[in-house]
Amino acid sequence: MNKVENSFLNKNQFGEDFLWGVSTAAFQIEGAHDADGKGSSIWDVFTSQKGKIKNDHHAITACDFYNSYQTDIDLIRELNIPNFRFSISWPRIMPTGVHPVNQAGIDYYNKIIDSLLESGIEPWITLYHWDLPHALEVKGGWTNRESVTWFSDYAAVCAHYFGDRVKNWMVINEPSVFTGAGYFLGIHAPGKKGISNYLKAMHHVTLATAKGAKVLRNAIPDANIGTTFSCTHIEPATQNAKDIEAAKRVDTLLNRTFIEPILGLGYPQKDLPVLKKLNNYILEDDLNNLDFHFDFIGLQCYTREVVKSSLLIPYIGAELVSADKRNVISTEMGWEVYPPALYHVLKKFNEYKGIKKIIITENGAAFADTVTNGKVFDIKRTHYIQDHLEQILKAKEEGLNVEGYFVWSLTDNFEWAEGYNARFGLIHVDFNTQKRTIKNSGLWFKDFLS
Ligand code: NOJ
Repeated sequence: MNKVENSFLNKNQFGEDFLWGVSTAAFQIEGAHDADGKGSSIWDVFTSQKGKIKNDHHAITACDFYNSYQTDIDLIRELNIPNFRFSISWPRIMPTGVHPVNQAGIDYYNKIIDSLLESGIEPWITLYHWDLPHALEVKGGWTNRESVTWFSDYAAVCAHYFGDRVKNWMVINEPSVFTGAGYFLGIHAPGKKGISNYLKAMHHVTLATAKGAKVLRNAIPDANIGTTFSCTHIEPATQNAKDIEAAKRVDTLLNRTFIEPILGLGYPQKDLPVLKKLNNYILEDDLNNLDFHFDFIGLQCYTREVVKSSLLIPYIGAELVSADKRNVISTEMGWEVYPPALYHVLKKFNEYKGIKKIIITENGAAFADTVTNGKVFDIKRTHYIQDHLEQILKAKEEGLNVEGYFVWSLTDNFEWAEGYNARFGLIHVDFNTQKRTIKNSGLWFKDFLS
């Protein structure tokens, strides 16, 4: 008997108020890259350049959510999922990033919100899930301090048009990932590199997170406001002092750098000395404007990382020992399947006194799914979700704060630099025909939520 049939997990164990949902992002699902007045985003430009994305995949059509949103909303309802997280494409509603707004873009999101509410599904909006208007990147993007004002004006527009019906908001998605990959390593849009681009982007995004949240709070007094962080359980490769120190630096970079200033603790410069260079960009009043008292913090955890010291890697002096070198089970992303990571991360973030409520706003896995006789037997994904839910239960039983779980993702979609090869969905998408097939994991989740 396999684990699916064997699972004793029951939704009621998590409590009546526990939030269940599914997460998506505009660029990864919508397509319609230039429809109805939409402006270009940095990801439209990046994906049009040869060699940036695996197999030169692009997201011109993606999952065609722009046209087929009703089909997908019907599927969310069919799966009994009560909460749907999606992001607003900034250049769809403000083509140049600043006023004027594009009414057709506003109309589109209004249709989605209204349809969700009619279906009894609660909308959760992420303001920024990485698709900066290209017109703003031309002016320096997040490396330009003006980005804080551009972003807060955009937040005000979203609050004005959608805040009457949408009460759950996330300001920024995974700042460490899009600044690190997009402004330091150059492997994500906009493809910039180097420490000064990275540190400027880091500081401006952090200021923008607090300012955007304040804009939402003023405009929608009854809003439930959060922001999301990627986090990873970090372990040293050996008990050797150098590896332990290296692991601490990686932990600081990946888990602490973005959340601590938001919580009013400042940047963790002591444990990661390169962050002292941030002082070049921090203006006098900034330290009073970095924090915000969020209603919830969204944590997004997929795996653990094992770290060893390495003198060759600048600034951090550490490298990750990949899952294939450790001979452990991994997903199509090359990420180790290690469910206790979620428990450890919950324990760690529970130590921050400033966090009111934790919601797991993303967790999920990519596997090479195929449709056979109209079915997708993605048993590994079902196990992955079940095993992670068991870790949440363990955390809850110990009294740790965790009040929701959102699966990444509803459908297979455009996985950034990986293109369409990494399938994360509870629902399979045939990208030639746009046909949807609910996977075994989706059917299990439906049953679990019923
Ligand atoms: C984090 C990001 O928010 C999302 O866009 C991405 O697809 C998933 N993790 C999986 O990598």
